[in-house]
Amino acid sequence: MAEIATKNVVTVRNLLSALEGESNANAKYNAFAIKADADGLRGAASLFRAAARAEHIHAGNHARVILQLGGEVAFKIHEIAVGSTLENLKAALAGEQYEIATMYPGFLAEATAHNNAAAIRTFHNAMEAEKTHARLYSEAIALLEAGSKEAWIARPRDFFVCPVCGYTSETPDEHDRCPVCNTAWDKFQVVR
Ligand SMILES: [Fe+2]
Ligand SMILES: [Fe+2]
Repeated sequence: MAEIATKNVVTVRNLLSALEGESNANAKYNAFAIKADADGLRGAASLFRAAARAEHIHAGNHARVILQLGGEVAFKIHEIAVGSTLENLKAALAGEQYEIATMYPGFLAEATAHNNAAAIRTFHNAMEAEKTHARLYSEAIALLEAGSKEAWIARPRDFFVCPVCGYTSETPDEHDRCPVCNTAWDKFQVVR
């Protein structure tokens, strides 16, 4: 059986915590997408599905590093509280902001202190992708609060998700390559 080196014990614990966070975000966003479709906010539903795809990619990346470091992959999906779509967007934004401002910076500092390149990469990539989600959720909240019924939140819409790091864009040709992980833009997955 694989063993976790002493210097990696805390890193693996942090990876497991991030894996649980990303797996729950994935489940939550998929539930929020169903609610947004039911509310007629089809573009918001597209955004939730795109972000859910990205969180799934993050979870897979974290899981791979856990296994590389000799850990075992495990997580629990918690009960999901589905509110109005505006409430769901705000809850999603708050989750992203926590990951960007608190969780990933802390985990990155620990992985950096132990010079763990694989953990640094997966934490960094996830954190940068979460910034794109925070931006898009903020935009959706502002449109919904302004009562902009003609805005993109009302209509199904394509989003473009990096298959490697989860970077999420509303633009089909924002860059030639992913600005976070350098994957070719034409490899991006289209989520609607
Ligand atoms: Fe996210
Ligand atoms: Fe990427």
